[in-house]
Amino acid sequence: MSMLDMYLRWYEYSIEMLKKEVINIKRYTDIKKVVVLGMGGSGIVGDVLSALSIDNQMVSVNVVKDFYIPENIIDEKTFVLSISYSGNTLETINATRIALTKTDKVGVVASGGELLKIAKDNSLPYITVVGGLAPRAAFPMMLTASLKLLSSCGIQLLEEGDIVKALNILNNIDEAQRDSDKLFEFLKNSKIPTIVATTRYQALAIRTKNELNENAKMLARVEIAPELFHNDIVGWEGTQIKDKTLIINSDIDYENELLEFYENYLKENGVETYRLQLRGSLLERYLYGSLVVGLTSIKLANIRGIDPLQTKSIAMYKDMLK
Ligand code: F6R
Repeated sequence: MSMLDMYLRWYEYSIEMLKKEVINIKRYTDIKKVVVLGMGGSGIVGDVLSALSIDNQMVSVNVVKDFYIPENIIDEKTFVLSISYSGNTLETINATRIALTKTDKVGVVASGGELLKIAKDNSLPYITVVGGLAPRAAFPMMLTASLKLLSSCGIQLLEEGDIVKALNILNNIDEAQRDSDKLFEFLKNSKIPTIVATTRYQALAIRTKNELNENAKMLARVEIAPELFHNDIVGWEGTQIKDKTLIINSDIDYENELLEFYENYLKENGVETYRLQLRGSLLERYLYGSLVVGLTSIKLANIRGIDPLQTKSIAMYKDMLK
């Protein structure tokens, strides 16, 4: 299956995930914190879960992207969610093993591999995602699977009805193609674009950077408001580099005002900007925004004569670790 086909099937595959069973379900009533372990295309699911928890009164989400976990991050009200598409990412496996020395409240999302074996051997709640895709192309499936596993274990980040409703946005392929055509036109001559968002959309900015890195084999920078007003904004005073800036709109008015202030500042400094206008709930914006930037990154790969699927350097790193 081509990389493009994988993205075009997001809706179909994600709905399938909703129907899928979580194995070894355990019901918890007192979880206050979820710690998500995962790297790259799997780790970004943790970042998005963390964004989705911003408006949640009951549970907070921390993300750990490393071989180890901070010493005091797990207490008796913590649930650890370990996500690895392949199930064979060493950082995630190692961090999961450490977590299991501290708690048995651990759940797993994977398509197979060592992580799935750990889940089975320890009777942990787990859910499998469809195999054979590039991990980054399985993003909404892993996100849906994670939300499903969490809610099956009594940890409600979002209502199931809201998830089902939000997934429908992935059906708007024609609109997403049009939006990605526009974004492609904007980015096609850019060397190192900057992606700007507010903290609520930080994970989408990072996802965009990662898609440009992995699919289009481009470098990209991420800047987050309001933090960027305390450092990055000064950098423009002395730089000769005026590469393009993509700005991701927020659903919060005052955040859009901050972004507008920054956009005007960039324009005065001769920088070309583009607004990615999203609509709907936080989850809808994350899903649709990810689809648009994913399609854009494939178009950028195509025009550069690059295979979006291959990630030689990641494989080289993973070989070095063995
Ligand atoms: C490849 C990709 C990578 C992987 C990462 C971790 O598509 O997106 O960033 O996601 O190397 O591997 P997994 O996801 O298998 O744990």
